Amino acid sequence: MAAPVLILQETDSTNAEARKRAEAGEFGPLWIAAKRQTAGRGRRGRAWDTDTGNLAQTLLLTLEKTPIEASQLTFVSALAVYDLVARHVPPSLVTIKWPNDVLLDGRKVSGILLESGPLGTGHIWLAIGIGVNVLTAPTGLERPATAIADHLSADRVTPPSFEEGANALAETFQHWLDIWTQQGFEPVRQAWVDRTPGLYGPCIARLSNETLEGTADGIESDGSLRLRLADGTVRVVSAGDVFFGVNA
Ligand code: BTN
Repeated sequence: MAAPVLILQETDSTNAEARKRAEAGEFGPLWIAAKRQTAGRGRRGRAWDTDTGNLAQTLLLTLEKTPIEASQLTFVSALAVYDLVARHVPPSLVTIKWPNDVLLDGRKVSGILLESGPLGTGHIWLAIGIGVNVLTAPTGLERPATAIADHLSADRVTPPSFEEGANALAETFQHWLDIWTQQGFEPVRQAWVDRTPGLYGPCIARLSNETLEGTADGIESDGSLRLRLADGTVRVVSAGDVFFGVNA
């Protein structure tokens, strides 16, 4: 069964709220969703704006896993967002870009930010933060973004309300979390690969201190990206901004 969803009218950041609760001894599982974030955060220290009608929610979870094992949940999250988005738009328009950006018609429609910290007992807390552009896409970004409302399927008159979307995401997440818990990472990895084009084509990876250019060469068993450089060496990339295809 999906974790309960707590809906707040406003908070600074649902990830920050989850962290505060974890550090105060709360274990979850609990989804914390907010209709407005005043200090939403994205990857690599960037800000994340949450406009009215868009989803911003974080799953607070406690696990007996290493942070590396827990990072597999980034793939679980991407599949959950994929399923949510594909309920409302033609599924052929939805893809995943390594590692966890869900794209709609080739443009970013969501963002996922995992944060974690230790608990005394060999357990860790995890805050799995997900933002989905349901009604509107932010403008002025380096790469154009889009929203579910701009691509609704013919049989969908309106995009989901905040409450519908928040609960539906909790359900699609639980579906993939159950598969990961019961069957391990492999079926999750395979489902993710099936939805992720470009894993064997031209690729640029912007890392914190260098930019690599080469050809993507699939992923490692832990989900890291293999990138073959012009001199034939292979670099394994586990985090960074990665651009695929001829327009990389
Ligand atoms: C990205 O940069 O792509 C990740 C964006 C993650 C945004 C979500 S919105 C809900 C949660 N709360 C935050 O402050 N960030 C995440």
